[in-house]
Formats: sequence, structure tokens, C-alpha cells
Amino acid sequence: MTTNSAGVLADTAAYAAAVEEAKRAAAAYYTAGESRLDDDAYDRLVRGIAAYEEEHPQEVLDASPTGKVAGGAASGDVPHTVPMLSLDNVFSAEQFVTWTASVERRIGRPVAAWSVEPKLDGLAVAARYERGRLDRLVTRGDGTAGEDVSHAIGTVLGLPERLGAPATLEVRGEILMTQEQFERANTVRTEHGAAPFANPRNGAAGTLRAKDRAYRVEMTFFAYGALALPGSGELTDTLAELPHSEVLEYVAGLGVHTAADTAVAPRTVTTVEEVQAGVEDIAALRATLPFGIDGIVIKADLAADQRDAGSGTRAPRWAIAYKLPAVEKVTRLLDVEWNVGRTGIIAPRAVLEPVEIDGSTVGYATLHNPADITRRDLRLGDHVMVYKAGDIIPRIEAPVAHLRTGEERPVAFPEVCPQCGSEIDMSEQRWRCTRGRDCRVVASISYAAGRDQLDIEGLGATRVVQLVDAGLVRDFADLFTLEREQLLALERMGETSTDNLLAAIETARTQPLSRVFCALGVRGTGRSMSRRIARHFASMDRIVAADAEALQQVDGIGKEKAAAVVTELEELAPLIGKLVAAEVNMTEPGATPPPEPGAEPEEGAEDGAAGLPLAGMTVVVTGAMTGALEKLSRNQMNELIERAGGKSSSSVSKRTSLLVAGEKAGSKRSKAEDLGVRIAAPEEFAELVETYLTPVA
Ligand code: IVH
Repeated sequence: MTTNSAGVLADTAAYAAAVEEAKRAAAAYYTAGESRLDDDAYDRLVRGIAAYEEEHPQEVLDASPTGKVAGGAASGDVPHTVPMLSLDNVFSAEQFVTWTASVERRIGRPVAAWSVEPKLDGLAVAARYERGRLDRLVTRGDGTAGEDVSHAIGTVLGLPERLGAPATLEVRGEILMTQEQFERANTVRTEHGAAPFANPRNGAAGTLRAKDRAYRVEMTFFAYGALALPGSGELTDTLAELPHSEVLEYVAGLGVHTAADTAVAPRTVTTVEEVQAGVEDIAALRATLPFGIDGIVIKADLAADQRDAGSGTRAPRWAIAYKLPAVEKVTRLLDVEWNVGRTGIIAPRAVLEPVEIDGSTVGYATLHNPADITRRDLRLGDHVMVYKAGDIIPRIEAPVAHLRTGEERPVAFPEVCPQCGSEIDMSEQRWRCTRGRDCRVVASISYAAGRDQLDIEGLGATRVVQLVDAGLVRDFADLFTLEREQLLALERMGETSTDNLLAAIETARTQPLSRVFCALGVRGTGRSMSRRIARHFASMDRIVAADAEALQQVDGIGKEKAAAVVTELEELAPLIGKLVAAEVNMTEPGATPPPEPGAEPEEGAEDGAAGLPLAGMTVVVTGAMTGALEKLSRNQMNELIERAGGKSSSSVSKRTSLLVAGEKAGSKRSKAEDLGVRIAAPEEFAELVETYLTPVA
């Protein structure tokens, strides 16, 4: 489709393509229950079409969504007594003011009163009551005739089978699923092997149409209008003359549900400013509502005002929908992460190209389970429809298949538990690590024993599994109280392996605080952050006593991370207590603690590194180390740099003071040369930091 930069359709062909696209999107929306364009994109498309038609009225196509009620919904075979119209939209306060002016111009007087109410995000239905009994339920269809969905009677809360009085009338309103009903529906559906609904709206659409389901799911009705039917008798005049607000009160009095009992109850006001305030109130409450709304409907309240304003073929002229931003957007699926929960459930999570939805940026979405990924045929690189409402965790609806380029790749499923490497139990829809709750225990102990943390040689994942299974350890502090006999009693544990392991654990007891802290596995504190924290506070006591503000003094810790670390440390207090009791080292050699708040800084204490060989220097290491440094891992090199007063970094920039370049140094070396950064060979560097080569205990 060709549009110029302002989104205006350029020519007849572009107009025809836009109509075609809108038709396809509308068909997908109403028939398959899945929309191919998000609401914003669809509205933009229709506005573009309308603008073009305004300029070229002779070219208007029959299939145009502008002249049709509901943009081409599937029609049914039950004629509506009075057409079920749609609503025109405004998107801003200015547009709304222009619209009210046009209504008042048309009727030749100010509108006496306005009703301001939520635009419920579901499906329009007409409920026909004969002498107080619910006789028929009909969808809007194409506005002229709808589908008979009377089979749903009895599953819709708020639509009683009997009214409080034997009235004959048609109540019109919206059927939707509340968030709770939606979640319940998806639980029931997945239990029956059916794909979960992507969002409450699709849930309501699918459920309303479904006839012979093996299970029942509940929906909710909200009335927004009523009219007389043949046989209404006296009610005919009453309904025609009552203000809209009183019609709603009347049906509510008969026992039909309206929005009156919600936080966004319809209100009647007289000035445009009051309408605007009502719009803002409802918009502000949107996120807290237990059901979805996609805008606010403003209606002339008095029957006389409505009559004089009249209706077009598609929409009444006395009402307007003030649309709120869409809660569905199209974005790209970049990756799928597999996270292991506390109980060992392995849950996929979609990593998305960040997209702004309803005022917040969405970067992740839940995916239910692996089967769900297969069923929806999601592929990496796909354009996907993402749905988010209020505080609800964003969900992926469906891939937008016609936007595929062929470059999309299948989602890789894990073969072993991504956390601990054990087997996966795939017998249920939700995959689970065969270790269940112990998965976390094994993973966290293995991490703590790793080379860059406590460096306990001989304690691989298999051995950890063995210790956990034997009930000897529940966390890594338990390692420090293991007894020789306990180890000897285990399978494949001879005297030598036992003694070696115990010796490795003894050495681990004296590791510097930075490594002990790192072993705790506090989120967001990897090796280098742990070193910074340990050097800053010098002892575990001080780290634990630090509040968020104190933590922010550490380079690289912002407000959010500080708060998260404080919370996690509180949770870890029992484990830290056990480590202290097991006499594990809790101090950082060579580090000076920060002055107490309010205390006079000691002389020279502002820079604990002053006088050290790398003071004030940022050092990068690349290539293979040789000579005295040969055996050091990158982490150990970084530790060495920091012991000697420098800062370690992994990338070369203008701020780099020194590059230690070993054999086979590549691009970092050339970059340092380009930038004129000082380069040292491993041997030269070893001399510079000679006295710091062995960690001081
Ligand atoms: S009045 C003749 N009031 O929005 C007036 N409609 O986009 C027509 N809707 O077709 C409807 N909440 O399905 C009205 N409070 C409300 C509504 C509402 C939701 C739906 C309805 C309508 C559609 C138009």
C-alpha cells in the first residue's frame, strides 16, 4: 500500500489496497476471533480511507469499511428490528469539542445533558425479552441482521433468564469476559487440550459462537441501551421518551446488569468540561478495572436531542466513542528464554522488541508452555500481536503470518533443564525439571562452588546432586559442615576424593569476601559487581547493614538495583548467618571500609587505592596470558587488577589507561593502537603488579 509520509493514501490503487487490507483485518477480527492489525493500526487505516473518500467521493468502493456497520462483520439470519449501529470515533479533546459543536449546530441548540460511560471491550448483542423471559440472544452481525446465539443463555452473568417484571423489550449491550473469567476459561480450555484464548475479547467472541463444547465458561453482560419490541405495549412510548440514563436505570431495576455497579459507572453531566473530566476519570481507572474497556462513550442523554441529531447509516450522530490507546500492538519476537521456577516448572518467556502499550514499555511476554509455542507456530523474528491491559502480564496473541519474510527461525526448545542440566519431565503440557524443587538447590550450590566464586575443585553438578539427594546439603553453607564419614558413605567417594574435596572446601572458607558474596547469587551482582561491592564495604556486616542509599555509592548501582539487592539480602540473611557460623571469611583483603555516615573522612581515605600501582587506571586484558599470569582466568586477572588499585573493563575505549595484550590479541589491540592507549605485554604487567600476584588472606 502506498501512502505518503503523513499516511495519506496517494492514489486509487493505494486506496483500493487499503480497503482490501481493512476488509481482511475486519474479517479476521470477526470470524476467526483473531485480529490481524492492532486497533490503532486498523483505526489509522480506516481514517486514511475516509480521508481519501472525502476527496474522491466518486471512487468510494462498496467494500469500504467506512460505509458499513462494523466494517463487515459476518451477518446472520436474525433481522434486527432497528439497525444495531456502530460508533464514530474521536481521539483527542480537540476532536471531541469539534464533534459536540457539530451536534449542537445540527440540532440548533446546546445539548441538554451528556451521558459519559465506559466503552466496554466485548461484543454487541441484543437480548430479546418476551413478557419478562429471555427469549433470544442475537449478535450484531452486519447491523441489519445477526446470528442467533441463544445457546449461550445461562452462561452470561448479568443477563437474567427472567426479569423482575413481565416486560417485553430488547436490551442491547456488550458481552465480555472479565479478567477472572478469561483466566478461568483458559484454564478449562487448556485442561481440555484446546489452545488458550489470546485475550478476553477473543475469548468472548469464540465462546459466544461455540455451540457444542464439552465445557462451560462464563461471561458477563453490560447493558448500554434498550428499545421496544412489537408487543411492548405501553413500554414503547416510555422507552422512546425516557432519557438514556433513565433507560439504563430502568433495565437495571429489572435485574439486568449495567456498568452502574462498577468504578466507571455512567454519569450524566451538562457541560463539555464535565464530559472531559469524566473521560479523564474513566481513562485513569482503566488499568484497575476487572474488565477491558477501549474507550469512553459520550451520548446525548435526552431522547429529543437524540431524535433531532438523527443517525447516519453506520453510526448515530448523537453519540461518539472517545478511543483510548490500544492495548494490543504488533512487535517482533526476538527470542524465547526458558526460566525455571521455584517448583522446577520450566516456563518459556518471549523477548520482544520493546513496544509502548498503553503507557508502558513492554519487552517480555508470557508464553504458556512449549506446546503452546508449537500450536501457535511462533517463530523467532515473527511479527506478533501483543496484548496488555492494566497490570496484566503481557501475552502474545498470534504471529502476523502475512508479514513473514522467510527469514524466521524455529524456537529452540531446551533438551535438559536450563538451570541445573538434569532431565526434563515432558509428560505434561508444562515441562518440569525432574529434580522439581531441588533444581534450584542444585543450580545455586553448583554456582556457588564454581571457579569464579568459591572455586571448590571436585564439586561438579553430579556430586552436588549426590549430596542433595543424600540430604547432606540444602544450601552451600552446609558444605562447610560436611563430615568425612558422611562423604565416605556416599557412592563413588573413596578416601582420596573425600580428602581432596574436604581440602578444597577448607580453602574455600578463606576466599575473599568478593567471591563469597558472588556465591550468594544475588541477582544483578555478577563477578565484577561483587568485587566492587566487597571492596567498597570491606565486610559482609557492612554490606548487610547498608540501605539502598548506601549501596548506590557503589559504582554501577542505581536506585532500582540498590533496592533489589537490599530485598534479596534480607531474604538471604539466614544463609549468610549459616556462613558466618561456619567461619567462612567475611572480609575483603586490602579494602578500606567507607567512613560511617556523618564521620569526618580519614586522611587519604577518599581514595583507598591511592599509592597502589594501578591507582586511577582502567585496565583491559586481551589475548592469552603467559609467564607468571599464565594460569589466571580472566576473572582472576580482573581480581588482580582491582587488588592493585585499578578498575577492570572488558572493552577498549578512550578512557582505557592500559591494555594488557597477550598472545593472539586481536581487535582490542588494534583499537588500542588506534586510540593511542598504552599496551603492555603480560610479563611487563606482571612486574608492575608483582606484589599483588598472590591474594592476601
Ligand atoms: S452505544 C447506537 N454504548 O462499541 C449506539 N456502545 O464501536 C451504539 N460499545 O457497537 C452503541 N460500550 O458494541 C454503546 N457504552 C456503550 C458501549 C458501546 C461498548 C460497543 C458497541 C458498539 C461499539 C462501537
